[in-house]
Amino acid sequence: MLPPMTAQQSVFQKVNQLANLVRKRADTAPRVGLVLGSGLGSFADGLADLVKIPYQELDGMPVSSVVGHAGNLCFGKVQNVSVVCMQGRVHLYEGHSPHAVVTGARLMAQLGVETVLITNAAGGVETTWSAGDLMLLTDHLNLTGSSPLTGHNEDALGPRFPDMTRAYDVDVQSAARNVANALGIVLREGIYAGLLGPTYETPAEVRMLRTLGAHAVGMSTVHEVIALRHMGVKVGALSCITNMAAGITNELLSHTEVEETASARREDLKRLLSGWIAHIGGVPA
Ligand code: HPA
Repeated sequence: MLPPMTAQQSVFQKVNQLANLVRKRADTAPRVGLVLGSGLGSFADGLADLVKIPYQELDGMPVSSVVGHAGNLCFGKVQNVSVVCMQGRVHLYEGHSPHAVVTGARLMAQLGVETVLITNAAGGVETTWSAGDLMLLTDHLNLTGSSPLTGHNEDALGPRFPDMTRAYDVDVQSAARNVANALGIVLREGIYAGLLGPTYETPAEVRMLRTLGAHAVGMSTVHEVIALRHMGVKVGALSCITNMAAGITNELLSHTEVEETASARREDLKRLLSGWIAHIGGVPA
């Protein structure tokens, strides 16, 4: 049985309340939202006119316990385009519900962003790739067994049955290709499988994922994309392939390797992200 909707605050009300709280601290109307995954949080520290709000100071915003995930909502500009960044995200494997995991994404949508660019660290499932490769997401497999949209649908947020045919916006994808090309950065493309974690996969699971058509695997992103598409926000996403997925090489997997590879590709990722934002924001190249 679903809980009655009466006295309880709706998700829309909660997100609206959070947005009002944020507007008192940062007087901006961001056009582009960013979710900065493992090892990429420092992008936010380079924003012009930076205003940083710790998640702890935003009642209702969940806080991450993972190393490499600072918890700040950052406002600022990239080449004169107003942006809001989530410097760090929360994950299902930390024990957060799928609904809590998308709070930040919904907040950015409520603040009026038209497009959200998501970054993550992922394991490479495609055997011809290498650790350090960058991948543009063209689609995903939500293999977490959960969705942020279960329960009563709030029509104020979006439709009961959102279309996911073009979850990753085609124009946003083309913008990434153009920018990568202009910068001389090799950009792979493929399908991201989102799993619950927190274990890395077994080699058998990685073989299964490859059979299912996945090129990369990670523990985030899919719920954020679902919540953003529900609210009609355009989405683009990039994975840093921080390691080859389990069993592809003889190496064992570790979070240290994930952080080291993400850090080695950080400058290219930053250049790509800046160019992508400028392109989406209509700044002439
Ligand atoms: N599997 C799942 N998530 C990940 C991986 C991986 O190999 N690497 C970075 N995040």
